[in-house]
Amino acid sequence: MTSDNYKLLIPKIDKDKMPNHIAIIMDGNGRWAKKQGMKRVNGHKAGVRVVREIVETAREINLKYLTVYAFSTENWGRSRMEVNYLLKLILDSLIGEIDDLVQNGVNIRFIGTEQHLPPGYDVKVEENCRRSWHNNDLYLNVAMNYGGRRELIEAVQVISTKVKDGYLKPEDITEQVISDHLYTAGMPDPDLVIRTSGEIRLSNYLIWQSTYSEFWFTETLWPDFSRAEFIQSILDYQERKRRFGKREK
Ligand code: IPE
Ligand code: IPE
Ligand code: MG
Repeated sequence: MTSDNYKLLIPKIDKDKMPNHIAIIMDGNGRWAKKQGMKRVNGHKAGVRVVREIVETAREINLKYLTVYAFSTENWGRSRMEVNYLLKLILDSLIGEIDDLVQNGVNIRFIGTEQHLPPGYDVKVEENCRRSWHNNDLYLNVAMNYGGRRELIEAVQVISTKVKDGYLKPEDITEQVISDHLYTAGMPDPDLVIRTSGEIRLSNYLIWQSTYSEFWFTETLWPDFSRAEFIQSILDYQERKRRFGKREK
């Protein structure tokens, strides 16, 4: 498909069945770079361009929530050089894109833990993101230093403190209470989770929130992921029958 063909796919989307929230595991940057005879970090750099395209497309189709996995709590296990490159690339990309995001109605936030981040990192992220918080067309979450288990640990810590201090009774802890203490508090669960690069696993992504998500996998490496493929994932999603444990009508 040429880069503009996705426009032909957009009218095929059933507006009444739009997913509210799409979450993406952007995987395969390293393998993409290797295939081109380049260093892994060049793959990450190429991947940023694709994030931009997918955010633009999400605006075009009026998607409400988009969450992208940028760096996991397990990614600290990579070489120091790659980790440092990613930390800088992610912050620099935010700083470089924030004006456009603000102008285009995007409300952006980073979700993840502060653990192990360099001093001041979170402050710089928040200073930039804050400028977009009056927007409400597209809510864009960047899962940065994110781990689903870490997210649950932090929720349990806050909830148990509330119990200890008498603000909450153990029997009052419901699914809603737990959801309200996650980084995604107040947001709908993802309807569709996309993963590129042929890996068929969750890698600690949105483990609580994706309980009833539909999954869509592609062999395409993230830097080659196209707007057309993004739209195709939505068209495929719209063919699925979601039962949520009930019997089919
Ligand atoms: C995804 O690409 C980006 C991050 C995890 C930060 P990878 O870097 O995992 O690329 P592969 O999977 O090694 O090809
Ligand atoms: C998941 O990809 C994390 C991100 C895309 C940021 P990984 O490449 O880290 O996942 P594994 O190690 O293959 O499961
Ligand atoms: Mg990977």
